[in-house]
Amino acid sequence: MSCCHNYYVSTEGSESIFSVDISSINFGHGVLKEAGEHAKALGMNRVALFTDRVLRSLPYVSELGDSLRAAGLDVAIYDEVKVEPTDQSFLAAARFAVEGKFDGYVSLGGGSVIDTCKAANLYATYPADFLDYVNAPIGAGKPVPGPLKPHIACPTTCGTGSECTGITIFDLLSMRVKTGIASRRLRPSMALIDPATTYTLPKNVVAASGFDVLSHALESYTAKPYTHRAAPGKPSLRPMSQGANPWSDIGCEAALKLLGLYLERAVNDADDAEARDRMMYAATLAGIAFGNSGVHVPHGMSYSVAGLVRDYQPEGYPQDEPMVPHGMSVIVNAPSVFRFTASACPERHIHGAACLGAETRDASNADAAEILAGQLIKMMKATGIPNGVGGVGYGEADVAALAKGAWAQQRLLTNAPREVSESDLGNLYREAMRYW
Ligand SMILES: [Fe+2]
Repeated sequence: MSCCHNYYVSTEGSESIFSVDISSINFGHGVLKEAGEHAKALGMNRVALFTDRVLRSLPYVSELGDSLRAAGLDVAIYDEVKVEPTDQSFLAAARFAVEGKFDGYVSLGGGSVIDTCKAANLYATYPADFLDYVNAPIGAGKPVPGPLKPHIACPTTCGTGSECTGITIFDLLSMRVKTGIASRRLRPSMALIDPATTYTLPKNVVAASGFDVLSHALESYTAKPYTHRAAPGKPSLRPMSQGANPWSDIGCEAALKLLGLYLERAVNDADDAEARDRMMYAATLAGIAFGNSGVHVPHGMSYSVAGLVRDYQPEGYPQDEPMVPHGMSVIVNAPSVFRFTASACPERHIHGAACLGAETRDASNADAAEILAGQLIKMMKATGIPNGVGGVGYGEADVAALAKGAWAQQRLLTNAPREVSESDLGNLYREAMRYW
């Protein structure tokens, strides 16, 4: 593909170096049984095991706990994690971590659990005002002062890729906005990934988390090239979300091909173990990729779609309060965004669609926007995803508030392949209201 060769051109003063940071990964059936030995090798003696209440009743928590105890470790379980974490749920987890005086952490769950564990480890290791480490402009964006305690992350949804990234996301309740903390120091020391943990997930959870993976890969692949940033004064100033780069491209393309083959199967047939296994591997590949490149506008827009929710309650999720699951809040924006960004790197949009299974043989650059948007819409329809931002309860009257929330996500917006203004965001939400 010409796009792959021409996308990275350094000019005078621009970045010429990309970096690769990944967690140590162990992937496969039965891997949770090995946790104890890994934890010991990482120097853990007294371990906080983070999970949620639903998972606690499933066998994986005891499997993991047994392995840790068999290795001679002291284990305390924390299961108060919220499905969509908030600053308050992070602080409660941090209090548990401070009081327990742990020297290591193990998390078992979806992105919410892994993210909560990252935050607890951070605030227990380097106590600070809560907003100090939170991304600017919402927080002060201060760097994490030093290494955290070792953390073994064990994902149970084929989605967030949080086990491979240095990012943690939460709702800041006072501002009704989702934001996060981003630092290489937050990346778990190790990931233990057993695809069998996804076999019992409801259809909607597989769909939402699968589209989260898909958008990680597509956003990462179409992100602004790393060579378009100014060269940093010193290596430590090189951002973790460094933009598209040749390393991340490998994981994105591989993940997109797997998603094209297995996403619909994994969602629509709970007994299709092969499809669910492959989805978990796609999530891992996309996590490794976007952890080194960053996502852009669909994720930037997702935070207000999730944060301003009024009454949407999807099947398969806890029914105690309205929510738009993360992957759903991302993908409802995606066709609109990729129509907007296609002109910046049309070859990458066409190649992304081809990886997902679209017919692109006679496509010209002018077709890029519709080919990719069309492929996404087709896959959304086939897996029961709501029809755009309108499908999760929003209308024209909400556009200004949605755009204002997304505009605060500058870390993500500046990673897009073309500039995005606040009024562009409004138009992108309008174009995302309905797709069919
Ligand atoms: Fe995501």
